[in-house]
Amino acid sequence: MTAKVIDGKAFAATVRGKVAVHVSRLKADHNITPGLAVVLVGEDPASQVYVRSKGKMTLEVGMKSVEHKLDIETPEADLLALIEQLNNDPEIHGILVQLPLPKHLNEDLVINSISPAKDVDGFHISNVGLLSTGQKSMVPCTPLGCLMMLRDHHGSISGMNAVVIGRSNIVGKPMAQLLLNDSCTVTIAHSRTKDLPDVVRGADIVIAAVGRPEMVPGDWIKKGATVIDVGINRVEKPEGGTRLVGDVDYASCAEVAGAITPVPGGVGPMTIACLLANTVTACSRANGLVEPEGLTA
Ligand code: GUN
Repeated sequence: MTAKVIDGKAFAATVRGKVAVHVSRLKADHNITPGLAVVLVGEDPASQVYVRSKGKMTLEVGMKSVEHKLDIETPEADLLALIEQLNNDPEIHGILVQLPLPKHLNEDLVINSISPAKDVDGFHISNVGLLSTGQKSMVPCTPLGCLMMLRDHHGSISGMNAVVIGRSNIVGKPMAQLLLNDSCTVTIAHSRTKDLPDVVRGADIVIAAVGRPEMVPGDWIKKGATVIDVGINRVEKPEGGTRLVGDVDYASCAEVAGAITPVPGGVGPMTIACLLANTVTACSRANGLVEPEGLTA
């Protein structure tokens, strides 16, 4: 069997197209422009690339984009004061503080100072609680993107066995929660899991989110399973230079899987598309208007 390749790049473009339609309706019918503020502390090169790309795509879908670039030594009180200002700004509907933060800043404190209604990352403790009790919340972007691809490919995923490898707060845990809310039977596997290959072999859906290059080989995959690869790892090529690989060994997994996401071009592009989706959702909710269809969990 050769797996169907799930084209995240094309799907993300479709999602952004839907966001753009909703943004133009908000503008034309209600004179409202959704606004997203991104806060970057320090000059981490990877974070700078993400933030630039977020800003560009925010403008492309017709939203207002605000970027706050702060010095790496910014005191916590100054960052909290900026977040408070953004919480109270009626033109800002989404706030994202780029992680990781420099060590002297308390990440939990900073994230929990964002108004839950504007927390487009879905990291605020209130949103985590709402998601885990099956209530309306802001949902973390990467797991939301994975869920959208699964629903698009399968229609319904109800009753399927899903194994999530990785237990991070950003991907693994919220992903498991979303799969459970869609009535999957969910296992969260991690570095201490016993017999990981056998656990993965029982899965109809495998979500790999561990950050270890090509860790999952094809002989762990059940024939016909759907493999969603969240990993983005840069590795050295034998002939020199580097390349991007996921957390699964693509070539061997693609031989047995029914469907698989590539790296790059799979989950990655969906993350920013879902950030834009969350921003337009937050804006609609803040104004008591109907939410965009197909862009929420
Ligand atoms: N850094 C890497 N991924 C993310 C993300 O999804 N949100 C934020 N805020 N920071 C990140």
